[in-house]
Formats: sequence, C-alpha cells, structure tokens
Amino acid sequence: MSFFQKLFSTKPVGQRSTTNLNRCLTAMDLTMLGVGAIIGAGIFVLTGIAAATQAGPAVIFSYLLAGIACGFSALAYAELASSVGGCGSAYGYAYASLGELVAWIIGWDLLLEYGMDGATVSIGWAGYVQEALRALGLNLPEMFLKDPFHGGIINLPAVLIIFLLASVLSIGAKESALFNKVIVYVKLAIIALFIGIGLFHFDPQKWNPFLPFGVQGIVNGAGLIFFAYIGFDAVSTAAEEAINPQRDLPIGIIASLLICTIIYVIFAALLTGMMHYPELNSSSPVANALIHIGYRFSAEIIAIGAIAGLTTVILVMLYGASRVFLAMARDGLLPRFFEKVHVQSQTPRRLIWVIASIMATTAGLLPINQVANLVNMGTLAAFAVVSSGVIVLRYTKPNLERSFRTPYAPFIPLIGVLLCFYLMSSLPALTWISFGIWTLVGIVIYFSYSRFNSVLYKEALSTGI
Ligand code: ALA
Repeated sequence: MSFFQKLFSTKPVGQRSTTNLNRCLTAMDLTMLGVGAIIGAGIFVLTGIAAATQAGPAVIFSYLLAGIACGFSALAYAELASSVGGCGSAYGYAYASLGELVAWIIGWDLLLEYGMDGATVSIGWAGYVQEALRALGLNLPEMFLKDPFHGGIINLPAVLIIFLLASVLSIGAKESALFNKVIVYVKLAIIALFIGIGLFHFDPQKWNPFLPFGVQGIVNGAGLIFFAYIGFDAVSTAAEEAINPQRDLPIGIIASLLICTIIYVIFAALLTGMMHYPELNSSSPVANALIHIGYRFSAEIIAIGAIAGLTTVILVMLYGASRVFLAMARDGLLPRFFEKVHVQSQTPRRLIWVIASIMATTAGLLPINQVANLVNMGTLAAFAVVSSGVIVLRYTKPNLERSFRTPYAPFIPLIGVLLCFYLMSSLPALTWISFGIWTLVGIVIYFSYSRFNSVLYKEALSTGI
C-alpha cells in the first residue's frame, strides 16, 4: 500500500458493542441531551436580530428552512450513528468511510466546533449572570468580568461555570443526563410561558409587511440562525453510553431537532406578532417585546431561561468534545494517556478536565465574542463529511447492518452536502481564512505526531501491508 493510499485507509466497523463507558442513557435522555445542546442563546437573541435585519416576520420561514437543511444532516447522522456507532461521531464516521486523514481533520474541526461553541456560550452565560447579579444589587469587580483584551484580568464567571459543569460530567453520565434534564425543563418552562403570553398579545397587524426583504431575506436569515440549531449532532457522541444505541440514537437526533424546529417556528411567529420587526434589533429582543406589552419582570424571567439554556449548551459541548477525543485517543491519533476511563464514574475524566481547561482559558482570557461564524463553519464541515460518509458507505459497505436508513439515499445526503457547501459559501472571507489556518495547524500536527502513532498505521506496518 502506498503512503498516499494509507492516508485514506479506513477503519473496520462492526465492533460497536464493546465499551468501557457506562451504558445508561435512554431515548428520552438522548432527546433531552439534544434539546439541551440546541436551545441556547440563539432563540433569545438571533430570532429578533434575524427578523429585524434579514427576513422580517418571514423569519418563521428562515427557521423552517434552516431546520430542513439541518434535517438532511440529521438523517445522515442517524444512519451512521446506528450503523458505524462509536463515541467519535463525525470523526468516527469519517474514519470508517473516507479514511484517516479526513477523519483527523474532522476530529480537529470538532474541537473547534465544541470548544469554541462552549467557550463563546460561557461568555454569554457570564453576561447574563452578571446582569442578574446586578439586578440583585451585587456588583462584581469589573476586572473579574472581562478578559485582558477588554480591560480586565479574567472573565471569572465564564471560567467557573465551565469547571462547575466539568465537575458534574466527572460524576457520571447518568447524573449528568439528570442534571441536563432538570435544566432543560426550566428553559422549556420559560419558553412555554413566553408562548402562553404571546398567544394573548398576538397582533396580526405586526405581520404587515410579512416579507419586507423578499425571498432572499428568508435565505439570509436562515444562514444567520443556523447557529440556533447547532448541537443535535452532539447526541451521536453518546453512542457508547446509550442503552440501545441502534434504536435510540436516531430517535434522539431526529426527535430533538424536530422538537426544537417546532418551538423555534412558534416562538418566531409570536415574537414578530408582539413587536414590529424593525424594533427587534437588540441584544435582548425577547425581553424588550415583553416589556413593550407591559410585563415588567420579563427581563429577569427571560434571563433565567437564557442562563438555563446556555448552561446545558456548555454541558453538552464539554460532554461531546470529551467523547470525540476519547475515540481519537483510542485510535492513537491523540496521546494514549487520554484514553483512560475512570473506573468508578466510567467517564473519561482526564479528557473532561483537559478540555474544560482549554475552554476556560479561551473563554476567560481571549477576546472571542465574535467567533460564531467560525463555529458555523466547523459544524457545516462536519455535517458535509457525515452526509458524504453515508453515500460512500452505501457503496463501499452495502451489507453493513443499518437499523436506520436515510430515505432516498444517495439523493438526500447529496442534497445535505450541497446545502452545507451553500451555507459555507455565504460565510465571510475572514471566517474562511481562520478556518483554513486552523485546518493547516491540524494537518501539521497530524503529519508530525498522529500519523506515526495511529493504531491503524502501526498495524499496517506490522503486517507489512
Ligand atoms: N444552538 C446553540 C444556541 O443557540 C448553540 O445557543
């Protein structure tokens, strides 16, 4: 086998039943994990901004469009989670279908998605908590609320929440799922409250004009609110902790996306029916809309919903990242030191704390408030690879046991890939450059370390193939 061929050699699949993690998660736990990861800041902030600047009340269709676009990828994730399995998610699927180099790049890319998402969201979390404390008359010193690039020393609340959630994850998967579920219920309750109020204050006049920016506005709005859907893919990293992964992972992935799409559409319809869309262009459009119709404590209530929402996003991002890197360490692409799973808790504690430390350093010390586009880019790249993986595996491994099959393959996954590229092409040049640099760094690490420590590579060397 030539050097070039080895880069694209794929990992055999079919050993998904063995794991040293704790198989304890039900379909409900997985669905809640998905909802926990999906609903965060997006619904509370981006709905208003997308309506005001891109789509008007037709932001409802932007949500539908982005939801459908994610649906193509969700079906692909569901198929590969049920057939290839493993906690590596897109990384593992790429290893089985497109070879080691692509797998490494996507694994490296997931560090960007989960790590940056977790870090930016924890900065948002810190902002809301700071507001809430201020409302209670507690003012923390400014130097502990800002990173050194914004005139402070460290963003302490952002660092603390990350380490707190790392502690929860270190206890065990079942306990983390329970913690997640309780907080998801809190955020769903706040959203339900908003929907209840919105139904009584809906004014059809506010929907006039409905399509102020035309159809293009709907598409642009979809690009912006794509961020609000990020997270359902993290369900697939729970493959080795699901009691019945072949059946429950597809349920968790698709159900969480479906539930959130319905919530988003209703939420967007009511928000734009409560306040005229040009007035929604602020960092707290939902609280403003409630104040507008006379609810004085709305800002506090929405802040509770947002804090709850953001907490579970950080939790699931930390969880997902630790599972993906566990898979990479087992394959030898990351130091084998990280593959150790703590015996009592059955969690990859070393990885949880290393990832939490990287995330906390980034959130606490770096000026990264504006990297949402980079997170979008990393996620879209992973989605494109997963949809491509479905197509490739249908041809290279037609007899692989698939308890869930993407309908109309290869057309649906192909549309999924094209949609991802389309959305990626709409991202700014700076995002492409940053993404390119990140990928290049990853490739350098691969060729200087991972390639030579890869289990697959070493096996190939020892058998002389
Ligand atoms: N989907 C997550 C959010 O909206 C990242 O915050």
